[in-house]
Amino acid sequence: MAKFLVTSALPYANGPIHFGHVAGAYLPADVYVRYLRMRGHQVLYVCGTDEHGVAITLKAEQEGLGYRQYVDGWHQEIQALFDRFQIRFDIFSGTARCPQHVAASQRFFQVLLQRGFIQHREDDQWYSESMERFLPDRYLQGKCHECGFEQARGDECPRCGTWIDARKLGNPVSLLDGSSPILKKTRHWYLDLPALHKAGLDKWYKGADESRPHAAWKPNVDGHVQAMLADLRERPITRDLPWGVPLPEGMDEQGEKVLYVWFDAPIGYLSFTQEWAEAKGEPEAWREWWQDPKCKMVHFIGKDNIAFHVVLFPAMLLGQGQAWEDRNFVLPWAVPANEFYNLQGKKFSTSGGWYLDNDHFFQHYNPDAARFHLLLTAPETSDSEFTWEGFQTTNNSLLADKLGNFSQRVLKFCGKRYQNQVPEASGIHDQNPALVQADEHFAEVGDRLSRHEFQAAARALMAGCNALNQFFDHLAPWKLVKSEDAADRQSCQDGLERCLAYLELLSRRMAPFCPTAAEKLRQMLGDIADGPGDRWGEETEGQPPARLAAGAELGTPEVLFQKLDPKVIQAEIDKLHQRSETSPTA
Ligand code: MF3
Ligand code: ZN
Repeated sequence: MAKFLVTSALPYANGPIHFGHVAGAYLPADVYVRYLRMRGHQVLYVCGTDEHGVAITLKAEQEGLGYRQYVDGWHQEIQALFDRFQIRFDIFSGTARCPQHVAASQRFFQVLLQRGFIQHREDDQWYSESMERFLPDRYLQGKCHECGFEQARGDECPRCGTWIDARKLGNPVSLLDGSSPILKKTRHWYLDLPALHKAGLDKWYKGADESRPHAAWKPNVDGHVQAMLADLRERPITRDLPWGVPLPEGMDEQGEKVLYVWFDAPIGYLSFTQEWAEAKGEPEAWREWWQDPKCKMVHFIGKDNIAFHVVLFPAMLLGQGQAWEDRNFVLPWAVPANEFYNLQGKKFSTSGGWYLDNDHFFQHYNPDAARFHLLLTAPETSDSEFTWEGFQTTNNSLLADKLGNFSQRVLKFCGKRYQNQVPEASGIHDQNPALVQADEHFAEVGDRLSRHEFQAAARALMAGCNALNQFFDHLAPWKLVKSEDAADRQSCQDGLERCLAYLELLSRRMAPFCPTAAEKLRQMLGDIADGPGDRWGEETEGQPPARLAAGAELGTPEVLFQKLDPKVIQAEIDKLHQRSETSPTA
């Protein structure tokens, strides 16, 4: 058994999260966690909201709300969407609400300072003369020094993902009042990334220090990081802001500076683990995850977060050395970073009216169908999108027709012909080619999930269902059951026994994707699904399911996935277009 510490990027508490975020960093993680748990691994799944930084202060100010009040509202709202999707964290906290967060962040800073990885000095910073204040990088907009995009932010370029050096921004303007700032000297603290690179980051990244046994990074991660490592510079990690984690006692005479949000946010993964440990009455239990070299840390993120999770945070962890009770921190074992997920050909945009109304969606559609569709279309290797037509097809042609229908046909048949019991079987179909194929497809599900290939895992599950439908169609039990020939009737019994045994297997293979429907299917299977449905059964992976005991009682068949009316789907598409045409930024 192994131990996995799984995290999903902390969403900013400054707006709704949409299906695109869910498909990128949350749902795949939840499915992975459910799968690992079924295999008996020890797993801790940590998340919460990112509540500091300029993205927050700017919007709270615009809306005339206090910072705390502002982030509290979004924290609740975001958590509610995760609940609807049945995304279950072991803890969902927030960087401004976690009681351990300030101390943990300050300790990180102090250790790095003591160990010589943070220096402070005077440097140029953009200063607004009209407002008489320094402008943190996120308050600026200008031209990206890498790709030339005109609307780059002072911290990151939304087009090419470059982590921008604000001083090199072309023609910067202040987002506060549109004025052009000037460069002026101020004191800041800088993280010495080149030194941390030499101190071990490089070795870790290349997988040369055994801490990351599978040295392969996803190609989208590697391309980005190689470029960054080739040109690593010191980065300022303090900001002039009234909201955030203050510098440690006595370091900031004017008391005006806070830690850069990208410094404190990833520490949230740790401080939330401490909060979780505290809540269960074992305050030191966080060390079993963060300081056990055997623990595998997996960060699920979107592509705009790659630099921070593959360079900045590992550098910060590594730079702690053994300052925390003589033990090293674990470094990320895998970073499954996803591309972007759009909506009907365009980017999700709340202000542009181009979004899905979450309340409405979950009042009318099945969360399991949404989960399955998002995974089937997850933006793993390139940008992808949600379309209503695609959702309809997944729901109707795959989940309802292939999976739900198969369950119904089998169970109804057994209800009618075999007194709703498992018929006596003798192994006639054991080598049936369709069933052998089903074995392969169902074995692939787990293999793909282990590799964070969620699209392929979802496709393999459906391919398995296809094979089962083929088996049933070829068997044509409705004919065999009426045959004069006793051999035909035995073949029929045998075939149905296999179908039931595969349905039980299917209920477990589908559980990480569609937990509610899987549970419902197990109820429908009655006695044969009596045992724990939370076991993956990896010891028999790729093999046919064991013979069922004849005479076991079955439950009542139900519809697992309701079909969607194409008219309803068309109405959703029309509504989306209308909303976007009448929205303020259309
Ligand atoms: N809030 C960031 C975003 O939405 C992600 C922060 S992830 C963490 O892009 F590592 F910093 F926590
Ligand atoms: Zn750019």
